[in-house]
Amino acid sequence: MTTVFYGALITPVSLTEHRTLPHALLAVARDTGDIAWVEDDVHPSALQDALARHGLGAEDVDVVELKLGEFLMPGFIDTHIHAPQVPNIGSGQQYELLDWLDHVTFPMEARFADADFARRTYTSVIKRTIDYGSTTCCYYGTLHLDGTAALADVIHAYGQRAFVGKCNMDRNSPDYYVESSADASIAATHALIAHIRALPPPPGGAEPLVRPILTPRFAISCSHELLGKLGKLAEADPALHIQTHISENAGEIAFTRELFPPDSLPAPPKPLPMVNGIDGVKGKSGGGTYAGVYDAFGMLRENTVLAHAVHLDEEEVRIIKARGAGISHCPTSNFNLRSGCARVGMLLDHGIKVGRGSFPAYAPFLLRPLVLQVSLGTDVSGGFSPSILAAMQHASMCSKVVAMQSPHPPPNTRFTDRQLPIATLLYLATQGGADVCDMRDRVGSLAPGKAFDALVVSVRSDAGNPATWGVDMDLELGVRDGGKSAAVELENFLERFLFCGDDRNIRRVYVQGRLIGGKEHRA
Ligand code: GUN
Ligand code: FE
Repeated sequence: MTTVFYGALITPVSLTEHRTLPHALLAVARDTGDIAWVEDDVHPSALQDALARHGLGAEDVDVVELKLGEFLMPGFIDTHIHAPQVPNIGSGQQYELLDWLDHVTFPMEARFADADFARRTYTSVIKRTIDYGSTTCCYYGTLHLDGTAALADVIHAYGQRAFVGKCNMDRNSPDYYVESSADASIAATHALIAHIRALPPPPGGAEPLVRPILTPRFAISCSHELLGKLGKLAEADPALHIQTHISENAGEIAFTRELFPPDSLPAPPKPLPMVNGIDGVKGKSGGGTYAGVYDAFGMLRENTVLAHAVHLDEEEVRIIKARGAGISHCPTSNFNLRSGCARVGMLLDHGIKVGRGSFPAYAPFLLRPLVLQVSLGTDVSGGFSPSILAAMQHASMCSKVVAMQSPHPPPNTRFTDRQLPIATLLYLATQGGADVCDMRDRVGSLAPGKAFDALVVSVRSDAGNPATWGVDMDLELGVRDGGKSAAVELENFLERFLFCGDDRNIRRVYVQGRLIGGKEHRA
């Protein structure tokens, strides 16, 4: 049996390009939950012929027809969110990072020592992130093994795709919320990894939806001994993802440098590679920098997600790029905790300027060039919204602030000091997340062979969001149709959804072909 969606479809292609197809036909294989095929443009009168071309008769398919004002798009990928901080959303915006951790965050996280409290809280948290359209999330749990195992169980039961990690933190944390030793932290980490890897995969042969991720909270909260042991654990398990915070706040950066002087660091387990012989860090590691600390302990690699990266220097950018690690840009949080405006345009230009002479600047993502990968994170509750839509809006505003402050962008750059276009915002929220999570071939866009992780969006008036006007102003007012082409209309629907949409506009949320949330699912 096959489910076929017929109607408008929007999907990213590259940092500068996306496709808007008003009359697409997309088939999902029910047994695997993968996208079987996509037809770009099918006239209503040719629908049966198109199905027949794929060997499908009326009895083999369920056709889901989308209405005007509805469209299909890939699910959002939130590459940085703290599940136990969701109950704190909207509190504590008066603080900067280190005070905010002490006064707001650690007291809440400590409550998750109670596994029953954790399970009940996470049941509400995960429902919310799904209904906001996040089909994949990189979750921080707390330092607790049982509570974080409960987080993984809840996500698994809902059917969301996720990476789940327990915080490693054995110093510079309050007495009531700190691990007793590096060894205790490592033992609990091993136990959580085993727990998550024992969760059954979805039916149909797809890879597991919930996967473990190493989560040293940030350098400040980890002793040299703990980072050393985490590095060994990572080295022995190259498939294990890693997430941490980097270069978020000036006070944090200064304290990190103080804690990790260059002569206290081991040599990185692998020398830094040259990047295409042109832009490389010639065998040198960044002693004295924040990125250099993580690199010394083997924490930077292709499946590493680095949250914030607001104040990286040039040397750090090159180290991160050379290691193939990815960045989670968290603009809502960076504004809210007054951390700063990340120069994401500059980072993106690092992502496309990589040499090899004639290497195409905007290569399709499947070619996998060695570039700096960037994505979006909500960073709840440093960020006050669990919605990647809010992260996109604030990423746009952040890029405009940077552009206003630097009105003369350097020539021969594409993104540096310029506002991010819609295509770029869409990419960061979807395929960029897939790139950063090292899942570029499986999720992030609506293409044959990828998992059907998708949203049915509606900007119609009946979605109930007063900020999205409806499909057509003239129709709404009873005036004649404005006569825009269908593709232009779809571009407009997308922009309105990205800037004015919320969970009311997200009708259905699918992961690996399964309907798991959205407004219709809850109704
Ligand atoms: N750095 C260390 N812990 C945290 C956290 O919980 N949130 C943010 N935004 N930064 C951190
Ligand atoms: Fe964070």
